[in-house]
Amino acid sequence: THLQDNFIQATKGNYRHFMLKEIFEQPITIGQTLATFLDEFGNPSKGFGKVEFSKYKRIYIVACGTAFYAGAVAKYWFEQVAGIPVEIDIASEFRYRKPVLEEEGLFIAISQSGETADTLAALRHAKGKGVETLALVNVTTSTMAREADIYLPINAGPEIGVASTKAFTSQLTALAAFALNMSEQKKFLDKEHLAKLVKALTEVPDIVGETLQLDGEIDKMCLGLSHAKSLFYLGRDMNYPIALEAALKLKEISYIHAEGYAAGELKHGPIALIEPGTPVIVLAGQDPLLEKTVSNLQEVASRGAKVFLVADKKGAEIVGDIAEQIITLPDCDPFTAPIITTIVIQLIAYHTAVHLGTDVDQPRNLAKSVTVE
Ligand code: G6P
Repeated sequence: THLQDNFIQATKGNYRHFMLKEIFEQPITIGQTLATFLDEFGNPSKGFGKVEFSKYKRIYIVACGTAFYAGAVAKYWFEQVAGIPVEIDIASEFRYRKPVLEEEGLFIAISQSGETADTLAALRHAKGKGVETLALVNVTTSTMAREADIYLPINAGPEIGVASTKAFTSQLTALAAFALNMSEQKKFLDKEHLAKLVKALTEVPDIVGETLQLDGEIDKMCLGLSHAKSLFYLGRDMNYPIALEAALKLKEISYIHAEGYAAGELKHGPIALIEPGTPVIVLAGQDPLLEKTVSNLQEVASRGAKVFLVADKKGAEIVGDIAEQIITLPDCDPFTAPIITTIVIQLIAYHTAVHLGTDVDQPRNLAKSVTVE
């Protein structure tokens, strides 16, 4: 074990935890994913082989945990840029609820490890029903990569931290490129619009680099959060699945109870839990429904919640002094904003956990890959 310790120390580089190293690696790992799917001219045609995505009438996405939230963001992308209906399921539900699958559908399993038992069983189920299957997986030698009809590698490199970070942003990046490829095949958007979105995607590694510079500011904010018993993340549109991932990440490594909610759903129950001092983190970067989100923010603030805002410059200006603290995101296209916001919520989870002294890389009760039901 002495040798093992040395090995772990060595590969962690100068970082205190694998998780932090993996968070800071993301400009590179996202770049690797882009290089897998964008050709030398920046067209999203590389890496998809000769797959005719335009023939599918529907997409079924199935995954667990963090990979599920990547799928939840992708639903917005596929629908918006390729006009294809997307159903998304948690793998352990999908396999037992007798889903009605159309043969013209494409089944997509998303998994870092490619071994998660529930996701693998769902993939086998879809295959058995005659639906074409695609695995979006990080581990190239995995069972899902082998068994799916189509395999797309995300190329994020090995992920050691139990809480997924760089695999998630590479899943998002691959899914964005995939949606753009499908859009191109279906000629769903006009050329200029498509070119603008592709360009936005190529800019992500640099913007992620800029976002990482918010690290110190985020760390300060987390000192206060670490005293919370329970907190909420709110978001609309693609910030909604990111709010769910944000709450999961925080729960996993800090053990603070956290819930992600669609901001518009707040009034249907969860607002009853807001007390003076309850932290509410509002994700509003490139929010297409910003005014509505701001009014949700005012609803919780007027009940005494401590509001933290993660927003672009425009959002930050509008909200002004209602928020306890504002994390201002660098500018980006709304299409890629969920990837940028993810960096902030990863750092919030990380620093809050470090302030609490938990075992960030090996959180209690969790396994990197769950290969049993
Ligand atoms: C475990 C991990 C999660 C992960 C999930 C799905 O629960 O702790 O971080 O998101 O499995 O794993 P997969 O390898 O299928 O992406």
